[in-house]
Amino acid sequence: MNGAAKQGQPLDSTVQIRDATKTFGCGSVVTFQGLNLAVRRNEVLCLVGPSGCGKTTLLRCINGLIPLTSGSIIFRGQEVRRPNPAMAMVFQQFGLFPWKTVWQNIAYPLRLRRMAGGEIRERVDRYLKMVGLESFAQAFPYQLSGGMQQRVGLARALATTPDLMLMDEPFGSVDAQTREVLQAELLKITEKQRQTMIFITHSIDEAIALGDRIGVMSARPSKLVELIEVRIPKPRDLTTIRALARYNELRQHIWDLLMSQRQPRGREVS
Ligand SMILES: Nc1ncnc2c1ncn2[C@@H]1O[C@H](COP(=O)(O)OP(=O)(O)OP(=O)(O)O)[C@@H](O)[C@H]1O
Ligand SMILES: [Mg+2]
Repeated sequence: MNGAAKQGQPLDSTVQIRDATKTFGCGSVVTFQGLNLAVRRNEVLCLVGPSGCGKTTLLRCINGLIPLTSGSIIFRGQEVRRPNPAMAMVFQQFGLFPWKTVWQNIAYPLRLRRMAGGEIRERVDRYLKMVGLESFAQAFPYQLSGGMQQRVGLARALATTPDLMLMDEPFGSVDAQTREVLQAELLKITEKQRQTMIFITHSIDEAIALGDRIGVMSARPSKLVELIEVRIPKPRDLTTIRALARYNELRQHIWDLLMSQRQPRGREVS
């Protein structure tokens, strides 16, 4: 029996969130409360929920950047207590080093892992190609559009071949057309690499397009209202799936769930 099974973690899950609660301000702000969720190996789990319900906070707890107030997060059979290099996080704001070239930005976490030079070169070139930026290897971030910068962020995370990718509204700050292009690229990459991923978004369409399952969170103190199996086969084509009855049924259902959670003020869900 391996370590994960011994500790009661289902063998097909990468991360397990058990009865997790996170509060701020000596308990005055309760983000999520008593949250239970297991992320299956190789799945893309999308999370949607009202602004301020604690989605970013949850990712930061999973990543070990901040501790839970109570409960536990188990990653590969071990309780998360500090950042783990087997996870990679991509944020809405690209987070690139402005003084490093595209190539150096992607290489940076690999150098931190003390990877051999040849392996770094091979990986950086491979992932640059995967996101279509081979000809921008020597460019600096300020010379790139927002969509291109986000591709660099994506390549940098993927190049570490993480067991778990944590994506916090990664396409939230690019225009609508670029967003669709990035979604299609990410879909292709995740279908090819079977990358386990938690993907936070405010867009229902994005969640359906990318997700194998979609977790809908309630307003604070938040809970998982429903965990929905998307059941639209992959590979997916973004244009054709929109015509499916299942797509529209999901869209309406998630919309209704989110509307029932709406607070008087907050960011709209599109
Ligand atoms: N470091 C902190 N100190 C105090 N309160 C915090 C801290 N981080 C987050 N919060 C509070 O926790 C709540 C959840 O914030 P969080 O950023 O996780 O929400 P979110 O669901 O990601 O929202 P959005 O959809 O707008 O990104 C908010 O009320 C926020 O003010
Ligand atoms: Mg957030």
